[in-house]
Amino acid sequence: MTTTPTDRVQEQGPGEEQQELLMMLAGKWVAGTLNVLARLGVADLLADGPCGVEDLAARTESHAPTLHRFLRAAASVGVFAERGDGRFELTPKAQYLRSDVPGSLRYLAYFYGETTVWNCWGYAYDTVRTGEPNGRKLREGKNFFEYLEQEAPEFAAAFHKAMSELNESRAPKIADSFDFGRFPTIADIGGGQGRFLSAILRRYPDSRGILFDIETAIATAPPVLAAQGVADRVELVSGSFFDEVPSGADAYTLKAVMHDWADAECSKVLGRIRQAIGDDADARVLIVDGVVPEGNDPHYIKLMDISMAVTNGGRERTVADWTRLVEESGFEVVDIHPTEPPHSIVEARPV
Ligand SMILES: C[S@@+](CC[C@H](N)C(=O)[O-])C[C@H]1O[C@@H](n2cnc3c(N)ncnc32)[C@H](O)[C@@H]1O
Repeated sequence: MTTTPTDRVQEQGPGEEQQELLMMLAGKWVAGTLNVLARLGVADLLADGPCGVEDLAARTESHAPTLHRFLRAAASVGVFAERGDGRFELTPKAQYLRSDVPGSLRYLAYFYGETTVWNCWGYAYDTVRTGEPNGRKLREGKNFFEYLEQEAPEFAAAFHKAMSELNESRAPKIADSFDFGRFPTIADIGGGQGRFLSAILRRYPDSRGILFDIETAIATAPPVLAAQGVADRVELVSGSFFDEVPSGADAYTLKAVMHDWADAECSKVLGRIRQAIGDDADARVLIVDGVVPEGNDPHYIKLMDISMAVTNGGRERTVADWTRLVEESGFEVVDIHPTEPPHSIVEARPV
């Protein structure tokens, strides 16, 4: 007779899986602890060597006994370590909470702690019953980006830096994986500070770019473009992609933009791009975003999908979802190209 997992639990009591589940349930506490330490910039303060808690507390204007508890909790999951002399030091994982290191996640961790982003999870039960995000209620009717731009400039800055951080290692690999060089002019719509567009232009020196985003992103783009040596090949345009996007590009890239929005909003953005393209049948839309794989294997975007659902009503999409969305918006899918995980490139042409 075969025993089922239920039989085993009844016979043997809670096992390893129960402990693992317990730690999963504490995942929010882990994330919250790391969000705070990232916002305080503790990893940067430890970059030159170990430091005592009193010193760290003074430099971060924190309450020393409580900071010690936050650090101890982080150390228990391998981020920072307490030494025998009571000072804290960086661990390999904590290195990624430093700013300006390759692969840094410091600003991502910082911005994930933004109050309305965090509070949306408190209403996730409502979202699963209604299908609606709670972000707009928490932000007095504003979408996530309007709110950041108008009400939370500190977090808007952290958000745009976080996106640039993520592009640091990923964008050059995406640029290598697909022939963007066949397009003389590439408009990156919702392109943030231009880190992705920069990687494309560095890889394809004969192409030019248009960087389009809301004002807070565009205002902080020039130093990023200059540092990448592409500023003289990029036209900066600020505005809302729900109203209008620049015309005259041969390719319109949308990287990690569509997943922020529900289908109706995505269709509106694609509709604006379709208008800008006019009768240029050779123009392309290149959606660089996740494609949800089938099956039960772990995949970051399956969790990101829930974050999108509760915060701004966005979603991650399967091949069928992308195909339907693109076809409902005046385009057809040419191909879906694999690229640097967790992204793929959905190539679409106007019909
Ligand atoms: C998740 S970020 C992705 C940024 C960038 N494409 C990247 O991959 O790093 C989404 C971007 O959409 C921009 N965005 C949001 N609402 C917008 C709007 N109404 N018009 C133009 N851009 C917008 C945000 O400012 C942000 O830069």
